[in-house]
Amino acid sequence: MSSTPNTPHTKLKAWVEVIKAQCKPAKIHWCDGSQAEADKLFGEMVASGMAIKLNDAKRPNSYLFRSDPRDVARVESRTFICSERKEDAGPSNNWKHPREMLQILDGLFDGCMAGRTMYVIPFAMGPIGSPLTQYGVEITDSPYVVVNMRIMARIGTPVLEALGKDGFFVPALHSVGRPIAPGAQDVKWPCNPENTYIAHFPESRSIKSFGSGYGGNALLGKKCLALRIASVLARDDGWLAEHMLILGVESPEGKKTYVTAAFPSACGKTNFAMLIPPAQLNGWKVTTIGDDIAWLKPDKDGKRLLAINPEAGFFGVAPGTSAKTNYNALASCSKDTIFTNVALTDDGDVWWEGLTKEAPAHLIDWKGNDWKPGQTDKDGKPVLAAHPNSRFTAPARNCPCIDKDWENPAGVPISAIVYGGRRTSEIPLVFQSKSWNHGVYLGATLSSEQTAAAEGKVGALRRDPFAMLPFCGYHMGDYFGHHIKMGKSVKQPPAIFHVNWFRRGPQGEFLWPGFGDNARVLKWIVERVQGSASAKETPIGYVPEKTDLDWSGLEFSDAQWQAVTAINKDTLRKQTEEQSEFFATFGDRLPKEVEAERQHIIKALS
Ligand code: GTP
Ligand code: SPV
Ligand code: MN
Repeated sequence: MSSTPNTPHTKLKAWVEVIKAQCKPAKIHWCDGSQAEADKLFGEMVASGMAIKLNDAKRPNSYLFRSDPRDVARVESRTFICSERKEDAGPSNNWKHPREMLQILDGLFDGCMAGRTMYVIPFAMGPIGSPLTQYGVEITDSPYVVVNMRIMARIGTPVLEALGKDGFFVPALHSVGRPIAPGAQDVKWPCNPENTYIAHFPESRSIKSFGSGYGGNALLGKKCLALRIASVLARDDGWLAEHMLILGVESPEGKKTYVTAAFPSACGKTNFAMLIPPAQLNGWKVTTIGDDIAWLKPDKDGKRLLAINPEAGFFGVAPGTSAKTNYNALASCSKDTIFTNVALTDDGDVWWEGLTKEAPAHLIDWKGNDWKPGQTDKDGKPVLAAHPNSRFTAPARNCPCIDKDWENPAGVPISAIVYGGRRTSEIPLVFQSKSWNHGVYLGATLSSEQTAAAEGKVGALRRDPFAMLPFCGYHMGDYFGHHIKMGKSVKQPPAIFHVNWFRRGPQGEFLWPGFGDNARVLKWIVERVQGSASAKETPIGYVPEKTDLDWSGLEFSDAQWQAVTAINKDTLRKQTEEQSEFFATFGDRLPKEVEAERQHIIKALS
């Protein structure tokens, strides 16, 4: 860690000087990304009370943070796409003119780092040197952001070397928005919820984030760069930046197939990316390339789409993660991990709802209070030990099933794309689109019940096209059009599927076992791609009969199968008709191909 830059990059040094003059920090540090640097920062955060060092015998090199209860998730209402023209941000994004936004932010950033250290974090999204990699530099006054970025991205000296004297980088400025007055005491989790802005400037390809220290609001390489800004770069340069996991499936004969899947936030990407197929599936194996973001680009022969994971770690949902549901995620956070807003056990380890069947007899909850099982609040509601959006930040290299090609700079060839969401009813377990354009229609009309990953009412059904509603950096209608175009950019576009693990019965119980058993669906998907599995053609696409799936090791009755796959044609036709309202919001930017697919489905369902 150094207070002087070790780089010949004049533009970068000049930008840092401008920000320093504006934010007026007490100190400045250029991050080298070393273990020694991280250790020093963790030491300082433990000393200040911001971090708790976990029991090193149980959870080596790991720390717990508790955020301010007002700063626990992404804030979509405070997230803006500041394009020159409002119509370029489209109907699904908040918009402000760049001039107006900069005026607000210039006021807020003025002196905002007083009393704090300003950290300069050069970072790479993607393996350093890969032609698909993008570079950024985050300036932040949060040491928590530095140690998280060190896990989630490649940072520090190797990045400065890759940038050389004039390499392109996305400038990404972040402040928690809480200057420290001379002599005043800092708070444990500084933030400024009344003045939070997550602002993106697609034309100048830059990011400014103020007021929040949490997740995607603050780790600017992730949703801000790798999705919102990258989606704009991808549109302009002919590739795709998507909210997708990437996994490899190996058949018992050793044939490898790569699949991506887009599910909305907290709808199962990390779980699907690392699933362990039931042993009875005789040697089918799943390996992980990434759990949240995929960048896909045509290969040089225009034959297939190749994908990389731009990230280097997992920022995963803790609640619900157990040895039974996601062993590989648990193993990934067995060491070198940062936990945020989970509960602390009496022996210095972590706990969250779902980790074990029975909760420990005593815990400190995510707010720092004593907690006992069965505890209720004044309204009689159960008090959660961990926040529903509590997270682990774990290095991808810790993952036992990480794919040997996860850092391959060339990427891996994608054979199938899966879309899915949380749908209590109506949407069946799995079906395959009839064509690429039909698949684009499925992505465009994806809906899911709201989760705790962002502010808002959990459970409400909302449209989330391509699981990108909060992450698309330009007009969503143009984005659909870009998908249509990308299907024509390669000779063998991936086959497209739709899944739903979340149908429920009358008591609210899940009707599908999910998790590892999702491998049964995945196996069918892979066999469809290879041409060996059968399916029935229906108005909604190709659907499997029960006998098309492998049931080895699972008792699943015909009635259960009916319950997870039955569709009501009348309801579906009505819903397809009603999509016209949604499509109308895109005006003439809705691709005619997507509307044609809708007409086609209505006809087939009539
Ligand atoms: P983000 O990191 O927010 O993008 O979330 P994600 O899409 O990676 O979701 P994740 O895999 O972390 O899962 C979120 C929640 O859904 C966890 O509580 C999981 O236990 C639960 N979940 C995941 N897969 C399944 C499944 O197949 N069935 C059921 N019932 N729940 C699941
Ligand atoms: C999501 O909400 O989709 C996440 C978590 O992956 S965050 O990084 O906060 O966006
Ligand atoms: Mn996500």
